[in-house]
Amino acid sequence: MVDDILDYLKDIRSRPVWQDTPISIKEHFNSSLPLEGQSLELVYSEFLERILPYPMGNIHPRFWGWALGTGTITGALADFLASSMNSNIGGGNHGAVLVERQVINWIKEMVSFPSSASGLLTSGCSAANLIGLLVARNVKTDFNVRNKGLQNISSPLIVYASVEIHSSIQKAIEIMGLGSNQLHLIPVNDDFQIDLDLLKNTIIEDRKKGYQPFCIVGGAGTINTGSFDDLNALGTICKKENLWFHIDGAFGVWAALVPSEKKKILGLLQADSLALDLHKWMYMPYEIGCVIIRHETDHLQTFSIMPEYLSHKKSDGGLIGGELSWYSDYGFQLSRGFRALKAWMSIKEHGIKKYGRLIQQNIDQAKYLAELVKTHSNLELSAPVFLNIVCFRYVNQELSAENLNELNRKIVIELQEKGIAVLSWTTLVDQSVMRVAIFNHRSNEKDFDFLVSKIMEIGARLSDKLKF
Ligand SMILES: Cc1ncc(COP(=O)(O)O)c(C=O)c1O
Repeated sequence: MVDDILDYLKDIRSRPVWQDTPISIKEHFNSSLPLEGQSLELVYSEFLERILPYPMGNIHPRFWGWALGTGTITGALADFLASSMNSNIGGGNHGAVLVERQVINWIKEMVSFPSSASGLLTSGCSAANLIGLLVARNVKTDFNVRNKGLQNISSPLIVYASVEIHSSIQKAIEIMGLGSNQLHLIPVNDDFQIDLDLLKNTIIEDRKKGYQPFCIVGGAGTINTGSFDDLNALGTICKKENLWFHIDGAFGVWAALVPSEKKKILGLLQADSLALDLHKWMYMPYEIGCVIIRHETDHLQTFSIMPEYLSHKKSDGGLIGGELSWYSDYGFQLSRGFRALKAWMSIKEHGIKKYGRLIQQNIDQAKYLAELVKTHSNLELSAPVFLNIVCFRYVNQELSAENLNELNRKIVIELQEKGIAVLSWTTLVDQSVMRVAIFNHRSNEKDFDFLVSKIMEIGARLSDKLKF
């Protein structure tokens, strides 16, 4: 299996980025529950024939859709080792817990959080955002939410973020039982940053209505364009207004590893909590994210619970004793997998400076693509390139606004269906635009030349069709 997959990855560039699974194979996955077993060789041959040829495509050098990472072989092998050990990192006195603790300490160091902060590796940034906001809610309410819940709350608890914030924030707010009406989304300025004056005024107005503002979520690398809110200013507002400051830094936080970009995230230092991913711009296989909480007691007071059957203290000795905290006290999961190993092995193998160079390379590729776009009169940039995301569109003056939106979406679909490249689309200022988000250590400049040449070809052909 290891040999096959290494061979497969060696040739990845020559394969289609994505291809649809044929109906006959799709139907195969409706087959009935196997009552008797078969040989692993047979099961594996089915994997080779029916699963491996139809990947999502994000291991390919020309995958730039949404915000997906590429994964690495070291990460995959580490996952194999971790699954073989099958440790449960809910807690206990064993090696895997030491590894998770060290990875969290490294992350704190990379993002300049104090060593006294606490953290937890999560399935991703959605879970990290949820944990950060749960701690915020419990700390900032003037009653014990864990005992009383939110059933009898007299005035709504309000969270603020820009309209560009990721939907996982809304999801977290819904899961927390606050209701998405309580997420007050503030418009952005021309740089896709939260409008600070509107934010301040909305907080004042909300207080007048008797609402309880408790948290601002800042975006460090927003999903559409990679923009950064003015984190310093948000930190100051939070202090003045006594609000929790949470930052969604899913990928933008890794600007910390690139000297020329570091200034964008200086405001991180003021955050009470920070959510980030390692499966995006640290190129690690799914799933691995992280939440960091500035004050450990806030974190523990939100989640720690110790029924008799899980009771443990440092003095106990044995598997439950020792100096190590139990990670089940820092989040909603009890049983947790050993996702820390892939981060630990990857960071040790490559060293952080190499990650900085790869991230810089993706930023340079985004600038390169933006320059290519500027050289074509039928292409236009739709937003500044803040980091590693390029939003642009195919334009043709003979087409209506509606047709242009359709055209740009159709180009994205055709690129996918022909296996040329995977981009996604989004809407910026009422226009459908193509979006290239580069979290890919396998891409090179020629991939972007190829992309643009194909977009020009498809755009011209589809424009002709849409004119009539
Ligand atoms: C800015 C941002 N925040 C949060 C998330 C959610 O992260 P995950 O998919 O790891 O749950 C994403 C995912 O793309 C994101 O881009």
